[in-house]
Amino acid sequence: MRTHKCGELNKQQLGTTVTINGWVHRRRDHGGVIFIDLRDRAGLVQVVVDPDVADAFATAEQVRSEYVLAITGLVRDRPQGTSNTNMISGEIEILAKHIEVLNESETPPFPVESDIEVNEELRLKYRYIDLRRVAMQEKMKVRRDVTRVLRNFLDDNEFFEIETPYLTKATPEGARDYIVPSRTHENAFFALPQSPQLYKQMLMIAGMDRYYQVVRCFRDEDLRADRQPEFTQLDIETSFMNEDEIMNVMEEMIRQLFAKVINVELDAKFPRMSYQEAVSKYGIDRPDLRIPLELVDIADDMKDVDFKVFSAPANDPKGRVVALRIPNGGDKLSRKDIEDLTKFVSIYGAKGLAYIKVNDLAAGIDGLQSPIVKFAPAEVWVSVLAKTGAQDGDLIFFGADKAGIVNEAMGALRVKLGHDLNLLQGDWKPVWVVDFPMFDWDEKSGRFNAIHHPFTAPSCSVEELVANPGTALSRAYDLVLNGTEVGGGSIRINRTSMQQTVFGILGIGEEEAREKFGFLLDALKYGAPPHGGLAFGLDRLVMLMTGSTSIRDVIAFPKTQSAACPLVSAPAVVTDEQLKELGIRLIKPAGKEKS
Ligand code: AMO
Ligand code: AMP
Repeated sequence: MRTHKCGELNKQQLGTTVTINGWVHRRRDHGGVIFIDLRDRAGLVQVVVDPDVADAFATAEQVRSEYVLAITGLVRDRPQGTSNTNMISGEIEILAKHIEVLNESETPPFPVESDIEVNEELRLKYRYIDLRRVAMQEKMKVRRDVTRVLRNFLDDNEFFEIETPYLTKATPEGARDYIVPSRTHENAFFALPQSPQLYKQMLMIAGMDRYYQVVRCFRDEDLRADRQPEFTQLDIETSFMNEDEIMNVMEEMIRQLFAKVINVELDAKFPRMSYQEAVSKYGIDRPDLRIPLELVDIADDMKDVDFKVFSAPANDPKGRVVALRIPNGGDKLSRKDIEDLTKFVSIYGAKGLAYIKVNDLAAGIDGLQSPIVKFAPAEVWVSVLAKTGAQDGDLIFFGADKAGIVNEAMGALRVKLGHDLNLLQGDWKPVWVVDFPMFDWDEKSGRFNAIHHPFTAPSCSVEELVANPGTALSRAYDLVLNGTEVGGGSIRINRTSMQQTVFGILGIGEEEAREKFGFLLDALKYGAPPHGGLAFGLDRLVMLMTGSTSIRDVIAFPKTQSAACPLVSAPAVVTDEQLKELGIRLIKPAGKEKS
């Protein structure tokens, strides 16, 4: 149907007659001459329709935005001074000889040709129009490039791409399952996989050595900008590799990915940081290292002060008291800003946001401006300011509470101020976070939870794990990029005894373990090799690489915040026959909610 694509035409075709197909991006009537920008996936080209070519001109007068056209015409130079260096076809134009309308279009619900903000619900309802927009086409192209480079790298490194089932049994990754009723097995349900974790471990036991899969995962959890109920992982598993070897190969892959797709040279070696250091300095296990601000512990100085707000958490083993120094913050942040920041930290449960404005260090306590200086003797503040490295003009914020609240509130404050005050250094800061604890203690349920999943190997023996589960470390690693967790994995447990021990610590009794994971416990008995791997959040990687603010922008057909698809109106009711066949009766049948 066509000889060329619109966006790839250039001076090479000068003087030739070409046929192009595409959508009317813009039509301008210049009193006598009509200009049509025709668009396809490759980009735009300008078409000139002259009244001398009567048939083509008559057609051009009828066309509207988003009509689909076939245009045959002569490629010629644009008149001097009218070329557009931003587009490949910017130096040429097509003088139309013939125009055929392949299809008409109603006025689209929002313009394709401009990048004006459009309500997201509307964008998703008409996603096929939204995806026509140049910015979205570009994101889809980056996504295609990303999977292609990753697949090539993994193929070159002897990984097999193997598919695993979607209709399966629950795999615990910390979210609720999407379940699917089985028609052929009465009262039984499949679960959609939260990840292919256990299948990929089986593949290692099966001797597949190195596996990968670009795979959909399903998690019914609270949605955020970087979370979708179905999302894509680049899932990887290897045998006979330790964590250093795995991290090294993955680093090389990510470096090649950034170099080939967006021409970015990442550091030759990604730094590694313990979980402990990350939480202590940044309040979070996925630190954005572009922000040069750090939390400093000052509990030791605050144990005996006359200010309960600080002394109580300073003496509580579960409490934390920190200072956060903002260089030159005294000038940059007004009283009103500090009030707003106090409201901001309260979202995270902080009961206040104490601060000291350092006007003149040499003047001692008189050089400090603050509502809290009066609560402690001068030497305490001298010690605290020295720890933070304070200089004249700085503003120091303080957080004191249970450690969890301080970490969340002051960690979020650090990120907010880093962005608001333009403090970011460098464009890309990857870091491996390692040495995670195996478990954290859940006060509410009074038991341990797995920090990663329950198949993660500890870095100690069964005996040591049983003796000190609360302090045991795991052989897990997360890759964090600019404050986003883009991937995570671990060396796995490959012995039944260790797996049973971990289930035991997690409060999964023998019977339950057998019912849920009997197949794994059995498989581990038949020569399970040492193995480990990880999974990258593909959507998150593409989001970062395209500078998008949400993973919804890099997924062709994402769900809304309430986990629905406005395009096809899913989820939807099913017929009574379907329910009957499945043996399901609804508690609130459709249309009878009010009864
Ligand atoms: P994990 O649960 O950490 O590990 O997931 C791996 C990566 O997937 C991405 N991710 C998500 N992306 C979008 N929406 C979501 N709801 C979502 N949840 C997770 C993150 C995350 O780093 N089986 C293990 C991996 C392993 O141990 O090999 C797993 O799934 O970028
Ligand atoms: P108050 O004596 O309650 O008025 O508090 C004095 C200062 O301490 C105010 O600036 C409060 O914002 C701050 N503040 C109160 N509670 C906390 C807290 N938990 N952490 C940090 N600062 C606090």
